[in-house]
Amino acid sequence: MKGIKIIGTGRGVPSKLVTNADMAKIVETSDEWITTRTGIHTRHHLAEGETITDMTVLAARRALENAGITAEDVAVCIVATLTPDTLVPSAACCLQRELGLPHDTVCFDLNAACTGFLYALHTAECLLGASQRKYGLVIGAENLSRITNWEDRGTCILFGDGASAAVVEAREEWDSISALLGCHGNDEMLRVPGVEKGVPSLVYMEGTKVFKFAVEAVPWCIDQVLQRTGKTVADVDFFVFHQANARIIDLAVRKYRIPPEKYYKNIGEYGNTSAASIPLVLSELHEQGKVGHGSRVLIVGFGGGLTWGGALVEFA
Ligand code: UT7
Repeated sequence: MKGIKIIGTGRGVPSKLVTNADMAKIVETSDEWITTRTGIHTRHHLAEGETITDMTVLAARRALENAGITAEDVAVCIVATLTPDTLVPSAACCLQRELGLPHDTVCFDLNAACTGFLYALHTAECLLGASQRKYGLVIGAENLSRITNWEDRGTCILFGDGASAAVVEAREEWDSISALLGCHGNDEMLRVPGVEKGVPSLVYMEGTKVFKFAVEAVPWCIDQVLQRTGKTVADVDFFVFHQANARIIDLAVRKYRIPPEKYYKNIGEYGNTSAASIPLVLSELHEQGKVGHGSRVLIVGFGGGLTWGGALVEFA
């Protein structure tokens, strides 16, 4: 069984920055409420004319360059998203065209909401195990501002747009990322109806209930990954959490006594970017040299579906 490691990262972020003060012009809210309840200060939104494809192309090109490989080397390209520009062609197919990926590259989108990037990493590991070429592009990308309900102050202040990519390499001698993935079908707490359903296809979320689910899911995922890999908290170089709410991260960090130099929050700048949130953290950490060759990163995701997941991923 081949395992994968991350060998390159890159992100594509829209230039339009929306502050909490901007949000207060749309709904009855305040910078104080948003900051203390969520940790969010700003979020990026796609400007008129910008697309998911623009962001994924930028993220993927930067990640390929960072990894030192070319488009021809890519065997698998998975875009984790619930907001592709079009349902068909998929975001991954658009990326194939723009990057000139080989025609036998396996390209598809994957929707596991905020856990999408972890689902995609695991899928890439499985597919690369059966592939001649050894490189994969795994991307998380969202245009959540398109499906935001601007009349719901409980959700509209949360979401941002963005894309981020990881290039992974598979080798026979490497350990698996030991992904643990799960789901519990539930459309009551969190849903986006989809097209032609008689209601606008906007995010509906019962935040407090999802919060409760998240604070139970996160430690469960950490424990499961540590158990599967035979590692302890001390063996992990960095913890990367889905950026849904700073308070959820703070609770996990306190529970496991994770020191400040071993976790990272960028929700302050980006808000909740669903499938893009975990790779946005990975790419910033990598760029800042906080993770690099040999770093062992425990990643935890949770969100719509309901879905959850964890994995121990190494950088090479
Ligand atoms: O990424 C997918 C997974 N998603 C998550 O993990 C999200 C988890 N949930 C959360 O992060 C939090 O539940 C929220 C940030 C969404 C909401 O925070 P909360 O502490 O659960 O607030 P709440 O919904 O219980 O609302 C508390 C109060 C309410 O007022 P009353 O009824 O107490 O008078 C709300 O109407 O805050 C009010 N409120 C606001 N006030 C000012 C809700 N949204 C706002 C707002 N500005 N934007």
